[in-house]
Amino acid sequence: MTTMTREDVVARLAQLATEAEACRNCALGSVRTRAVFGVGNPEADLMFVGEAPGFHEDQQGEPFVGAAGQLLTKLIETTLGMQRSDVYIANTLCCRPPGNRDPLPEEIEACKPFLRAKLELIRPRLVVALGNFAAKLLTGSSLGITKLREKRFTMRDGTPLMCTFHPAAALRGGNAAEGIARDFEQIRLALESLPSETPDPSEQLGLFE
Ligand code: URA
Repeated sequence: MTTMTREDVVARLAQLATEAEACRNCALGSVRTRAVFGVGNPEADLMFVGEAPGFHEDQQGEPFVGAAGQLLTKLIETTLGMQRSDVYIANTLCCRPPGNRDPLPEEIEACKPFLRAKLELIRPRLVVALGNFAAKLLTGSSLGITKLREKRFTMRDGTPLMCTFHPAAALRGGNAAEGIARDFEQIRLALESLPSETPDPSEQLGLFE
């Protein structure tokens, strides 16, 4: 298997984003304004996976640009010492559910090939699931985020996976606000202790169930 260049990855991501814009594999494609494919560094070490676009993301076509996104950006900058453009940010769904309702199982299933492709192309060295929907999808567990954030996971290709509260939950204060702050400290430590070698792409098989 030949390793893709950065340009190859950028081109393939752009092609997939165009496919997502035209996608009607679930009902959401017909009701949203714009598909929100993902944003960031195509060679990111760190990839965040959130839930689904909200109002602002649907208007702008970019994930995490509303209030929750501002908190995520602040945590990336202040706790991780990185820029938003250093990481890659995506969601379990490319399309906004009407009224920001929870994603339906069939919508998550329909969008899974896009998320899988993003993970396979970007090949992050650490994946962080933000909130229940991403955490359940990526871990395959039915436990809630409060339990999942206490555990460390390895995806099927060996990529470490951590889970934390959704930034929107953290904006409401309480446990989630304190928890996400603590979890980002752990994310920073995990990034610092990553081995210097990246896995051979030929060894990358499925990424999640
Ligand atoms: N919440 C999410 O899960 N994703 C976004 O892109 C915005 C808000």
